Amino acid sequence: MTADTSLSFAYEPNSAPVPASERSERLVNPGFGRVFTDHMVTIRYAERKGWHDARVHARTPLQVDPACAVLHYAQEIFEGLKAYRLDDGTTALFRPEANARRFQDSARRMAMPELPEELFLESLRQIVTIDRDWIPTSEGGSLYLRPFMIASEDFLGVKPSAEYLYMVIASSVGAYFKGGAPAVKLWLSQSFTRAAPGGTGAAKCGGNYAASLAAQAEAIRRGYDQVVFLDAAERRWVEELGGMNIFFVMDDGSLITPPLGGTILPGITRDSLITLARDQGMTVREEPYAIEQWQADAESGRLREAFACGTAAVVTPIASVTGENLSFTIGTGGPGQLTEKLRQSLVDIQRARAPGPHGWLQRLD
Ligand SMILES: Cc1ncc(COP(=O)(O)O)c(C=O)c1O
Repeated sequence: MTADTSLSFAYEPNSAPVPASERSERLVNPGFGRVFTDHMVTIRYAERKGWHDARVHARTPLQVDPACAVLHYAQEIFEGLKAYRLDDGTTALFRPEANARRFQDSARRMAMPELPEELFLESLRQIVTIDRDWIPTSEGGSLYLRPFMIASEDFLGVKPSAEYLYMVIASSVGAYFKGGAPAVKLWLSQSFTRAAPGGTGAAKCGGNYAASLAAQAEAIRRGYDQVVFLDAAERRWVEELGGMNIFFVMDDGSLITPPLGGTILPGITRDSLITLARDQGMTVREEPYAIEQWQADAESGRLREAFACGTAAVVTPIASVTGENLSFTIGTGGPGQLTEKLRQSLVDIQRARAPGPHGWLQRLD
């Protein structure tokens, strides 16, 4: 079925939005993922009808039948990106068409229908426009957008669902780290892996995150901040963290990051940093990096810095790595200079404080 890319959105504003004074209170210290806006977007899909029934309406609980397919077989995908309030009061999104394309890639892998890029982008414009007062004005604040799609057919057979529900919700978020990101301590998971060749590692599907939680919980239990995964085949090659990609900064000023081989998420922050670093004349190699090499390079000083990156925290320095039988510190164990320089370059573009070289910033008004 060819999808309709020109749906118009029915507009049903919330008749009882959160009063402005209460909204201001909630925006003082919103944290991450706890404060939600007044509205949501929904678009339905059915095999025989294609995409239909696009609506912007009050945020409301879903009513699902206990046989709803997503509850049983986890046919679900999502995205995450931020809307920013710029210094001049206007709003903007950072590379939303990259999220649209990744959402389509995830859909194909999960045997779900692809939402046309224009519908995806329009759904974001709709929610940001109606809920723009929920974007915090505080430094580092933003509106985190969560587009997602679930299999919504009520049927217990194991097969791709015949019906889907696409939704966008929005959450006001504060600066992930106030006053610059502190360096994090990583736990190296040697018993759990995140994704296998031929699996779903490159898709942004809920199942990947469910599978990573035991390892993340183990990291926290042992006193570390985040978990870092090795590849599933050889248990040797560094892949990524539970929710962030990883970069290594070498003593000659070059960068190394693991290649996209189907088992790691093709992060948009990762891609942006590769481009920015190359624009600034740096060498970036997308090549496999082994855990024993990581340790040797950290100990010899060949590795100067390492950092993780993703939409939520942007760039997070890595202080140290500990596993069952290894433990090493990276550089001084604190935030490194090049890491901070790259973080600042990216944040400046996202906030329109520096010219975005590649049309990355999509202004909404
Ligand atoms: C597993 C994983 N890797 C990497 C990333 C970073 O991706 P992005 O930079 O597009 O946010 C994320 C976050 O979305 C993630 O969940």
